[in-house]
Amino acid sequence: MLFVCLGNICRSPAAEGIMATVVEKSGLQDVIEVDSAGTSGWHEGELPDERMRRHGKRRGYDFRSPARKFRKSDFDDFDYILVMDRQNFASVKAMASSWEQTGKIHMMTEFSRQHPHHDHVPDPYYGGASGFELVLDLLEDACEGLLHTVKTRISLS
Ligand code: 4NP
Repeated sequence: MLFVCLGNICRSPAAEGIMATVVEKSGLQDVIEVDSAGTSGWHEGELPDERMRRHGKRRGYDFRSPARKFRKSDFDDFDYILVMDRQNFASVKAMASSWEQTGKIHMMTEFSRQHPHHDHVPDPYYGGASGFELVLDLLEDACEGLLHTVKTRISLS
């Protein structure tokens, strides 16, 4: 599964790190591959934002995946493409070249269970500490929900 946001330095590397932890805890690390990308290449090669890393560290995560840009071949390499907001959805969808590829794109908040009133993961880049904490709350919840969904699909296949 591939997590996608705008810069690939705040939301999606956090989603990747949290999901890697959730997957590892469930022993599925050889079955589920996690990665992240940005719809922009503005921060290509950079480590995640210092603030995101600091907030993550307080919850026991170490976000260190360098930023890269989303590419068309990601549609072939991943079954699930999880975007953080509507703008990400539109950018990724514009690069799809079939209905099958479009069907792989999901809003991350589709998998929320504890936060049903949030329909996207808000961009924390220009805001304060509470924005980063909200991102982590939403992602921890949605990653659990996502694992639940994927586990059900694996056991059915
Ligand atoms: P992200 O946050 O999409 O969660 O990585 C952002 C990072 C950088 C910028 C915007 C959002 N930026 O404008 O550079």
